[in-house]
Amino acid sequence: MGHSHGEGRADGGELVRFSVAMPEELLMRFDALVGRRGVAKNRSEMVRDLVREALVEEETALPGTEVMGTLTIVFDHHATDLQDTLHSIQHANLGLIVSTTHVHLDERNCLEVIILRGESFEVHEVSDRILGTKGVKNGGLVVTTTGVMI
Ligand code: NI
Repeated sequence: MGHSHGEGRADGGELVRFSVAMPEELLMRFDALVGRRGVAKNRSEMVRDLVREALVEEETALPGTEVMGTLTIVFDHHATDLQDTLHSIQHANLGLIVSTTHVHLDERNCLEVIILRGESFEVHEVSDRILGTKGVKNGGLVVTTTGVMI
């Protein structure tokens, strides 16, 4: 793979050019995606984002890696014992819980965003317990890097 230097510097060091072959239709669809993301990102920046995403996804899945997680849940606060259970899980894992934001959605439903920081397996385990609590209607965990991987 040939490459040349000289596009300037970015956060990760000097930029290196390389060429990529892909089917024309795939490239057209990619360019359309770049267009929908707006003017702030060009094709190169989108490729860099995708590469970082793949690296972060792989590294954060490894047990032993320190990760950040944002867990979003929607629940009915009238559900029996639900608030107590959610509260107890969070207090029992206070070393992992960085912050919790609670939003009252309507008369019944609440949204919570729980930010976690810790070892990958533990973050997944606590998140699964919270998501598995009876009365939690919807939610999901997004795992990302603490910053050291990008
Ligand atoms: Ni509420």
